[in-house]
Amino acid sequence: MPNFTIHDFLKKKKEGRKITMLTAYDYPFARIVDEAGIDAILVGDSLGMVVQGLENTLPVTMDEMIYHTKMVTRAVKNALVIGDMPFMSYQTGVPDAVKNAGRFLKEAGASGVKMEGGAEIADHIRALTRSDIPVMAHIGLTPQSIHRMGGYKVQGKTEPAAKKLIEEAHMVEDAGAFSLLLEAIPMDLAKKITGELSIPTIGIGAGPHCDGQILVLHDVIGLFERFVPKFVKQYANVKEDALKAIITYREEIEKGVFPSNEQSFK
Ligand code: KIV
Repeated sequence: MPNFTIHDFLKKKKEGRKITMLTAYDYPFARIVDEAGIDAILVGDSLGMVVQGLENTLPVTMDEMIYHTKMVTRAVKNALVIGDMPFMSYQTGVPDAVKNAGRFLKEAGASGVKMEGGAEIADHIRALTRSDIPVMAHIGLTPQSIHRMGGYKVQGKTEPAAKKLIEEAHMVEDAGAFSLLLEAIPMDLAKKITGELSIPTIGIGAGPHCDGQILVLHDVIGLFERFVPKFVKQYANVKEDALKAIITYREEIEKGVFPSNEQSFK
């Protein structure tokens, strides 16, 4: 049982304290994220892009998500771990959603799941909540809908689109979601949704007024270079540091500097 629970999500919102979230996909990074005091870790299907090298998240499977979530839950002591439902693990119907979400808790030790969608997943949220599976909903830019959306574009920019997102935010709250992730929407819209809901909002590219923030770990530490969205702030350049270290290692072998007596046995 993690120290941070879904009840703390709500408590932090009520107390006006920000919720901190980050993704992680394996044991060593999950340990670091947990040690840094982050409240909750999302094992995101973004792993398809930043770990598996795929073009988008659509090919990621349930078995792969379980494999990565197990590594993360094994590592954490305090953070709440949420498993991300991959494409076609819930779009095929409510019974599939319950079965697959249940695997995150039963097999991988997660404390909840995230699902992309608004009105179309309200029944899924109700069924999961009835089954004691806490759900974080995800609206705005939903990467599993990349083909319908025509790319990774900011959502809710027109008045009707904004109105629809506000309605969907209320729908997922009424259906029982414990929190709502808002991705790539104008900050004033995120502020309005955050003010109207009693469950906390977690923003990614949704401005500073959300109840919490999340980013993809590999973006934050500079380990994913294919593209860097405008909403990302890079706090380190791990790719550069790793590259330098590995080049030095290669050069030292070639020059006979490594291994020295220090790394050798007598
Ligand atoms: O898969 C993911 O990492 C996400 C992001 C929005 C955090 O859903």
